[in-house]
Amino acid sequence: MTVHFVGAGPGAPDLLTLRGRDRIAGSPVCLYAGSLVPAALLDHCPPGARIVNTAPLSLDAIVAEIEAAHAQGLDVARLHSGDLSIWSAMGEQLRRLRALHIPFTITPGVPAFAAAAAALEAELTLPGLTQSVVLTRTPGRASTMPPAERLTTFAATGATLAIHLSIHALERVAADLIPIYGGDCPVAVVWRASWPDERIVRATLADVTVAAKDGPGRTALILVGPVLGASEFVESSLYAPDYDRRFRPQGSGSRFAEPMA
Ligand SMILES: C[S@@+](CC[C@H](N)C(=O)[O-])C[C@H]1O[C@@H](n2cnc3c(N)ncnc32)[C@H](O)[C@@H]1O
Repeated sequence: MTVHFVGAGPGAPDLLTLRGRDRIAGSPVCLYAGSLVPAALLDHCPPGARIVNTAPLSLDAIVAEIEAAHAQGLDVARLHSGDLSIWSAMGEQLRRLRALHIPFTITPGVPAFAAAAAALEAELTLPGLTQSVVLTRTPGRASTMPPAERLTTFAATGATLAIHLSIHALERVAADLIPIYGGDCPVAVVWRASWPDERIVRATLADVTVAAKDGPGRTALILVGPVLGASEFVESSLYAPDYDRRFRPQGSGSRFAEPMA
């Protein structure tokens, strides 16, 4: 018996990996985080599967479901939205499973920030502008932030910020960032990226609070940084005609040239 953690992707049912689909199809028990995991993914469950929405359950109750499946020798598919490496609550479940000696696998998923970037038709790292993306959040009712992890500290690097779980604090976010990025810095808010009701607002830090005030709910990402909407950036060296690289050696003097036989 194994618990298969599966990153369920950002919303569109076809943004599930093939491995994730197969893990769901092979598991007679499915536990899914119902608040963000699309119901259509449950169509991959085998006939007669036990399907449990864990949104209203405590960690103890979730582990009890897993232990019951374990006692019967039934594999479990455990679905969380997006990818499992960020804000999935997988860490605490893994700790319990390790203590119980219950085996598990982990199948990554498409994270929301990637779906939001796709919706914006944007690369978040552009040569000469920024080469880093900070995946972060602001404090919530259930989560404090480590003191050093301030938005303003991250912003001081000039990186692109992908701010999760913070749409309710948009005004505060903008106020904190304006002194660093400037009021004219581009911002995009993407609600429910890849869902049928996806919505995008493009604005600046100065006017985003007004522009986004009628957004549909809390499932939204705030992306901030000069890369958004930038057209003035250099091309990457990798594809420059004279760039010497292993897959395109530049003549016999190339450091990647085949040695003479
Ligand atoms: C609990 S976190 C889950 C993040 C997820 N594990 C991931 O990889 O993206 C939930 C937050 O992710 C963001 N989010 C999740 N799905 C989204 C989507 N489809 N569109 C925009 N933001 C989304 C929102 O900021 C939301 O408040």
